[in-house]
Amino acid sequence: MQSIVAPSVLASDFANLQKEVEMLNRSQADWIHVDVMDGVFVPNISFGMPVCKAIKQHAEKPLDVHLMIVDPDRYIEDFQQAGADRIIVHYEACTHLNRTLNLIRQSGCKAGVAINPHTPVVLLEDIIGIADTVLVMSVNPGFGGQSFIERTYHKVRQLKQLIAQEQADTLIEIDGGVTSQNAYQLLEAGADVLVAGSFVFKADDPETVIAQLKKPKRT
Ligand code: DX5
Ligand code: ZN
Repeated sequence: MQSIVAPSVLASDFANLQKEVEMLNRSQADWIHVDVMDGVFVPNISFGMPVCKAIKQHAEKPLDVHLMIVDPDRYIEDFQQAGADRIIVHYEACTHLNRTLNLIRQSGCKAGVAINPHTPVVLLEDIIGIADTVLVMSVNPGFGGQSFIERTYHKVRQLKQLIAQEQADTLIEIDGGVTSQNAYQLLEAGADVLVAGSFVFKADDPETVIAQLKKPKRT
């Protein structure tokens, strides 16, 4: 079993961002996950368009931009311009999610929707057909380095069923507390994309860790 690996630069060394991105270019990472936090939707502030643009300058892989912000419609064009290839908005932050996903697609980016740990999968029934990705949060968004919520496996299986039922072509992405301890089980449950921040960037050898996540072993 192979995954799409999307390391999150939130856990990288911001003072050496170019080097960190070059390491990802060399590695087996597929996408680069970019966490944008506004201090309103989540209790933390990370960075915005200028940093996204700086990452893009060195990145040889698609940018997967995870917007943890209120009213994301206001910034879709800006992030597309800043180099996003995929844009993920939160279900909980969108009053008109159908419109928002269509706006993302019209900008030329792939459109994704993220759900918080408390948000049930069934709420996605009417928009799954226009979502290129569903990102299942396996921690409460806002910080790296938190522990994985076990209920996620159940949600992934439910989501897999919903995607089949609606004959949609949607990738399932997992974000938060992903390690080589849960990667295999997540793929087995139906996940396609694994986001990992601290597990990659706090490792002695990030490239090896990325290779482990790419082809995880049963634990
Ligand atoms: C959390 C972010 C994640 C975070 C994951 O709000 O959305 O992408 O960087 O970090 P780890 O892998 O350390 O849980
Ligand atoms: Zn994220």
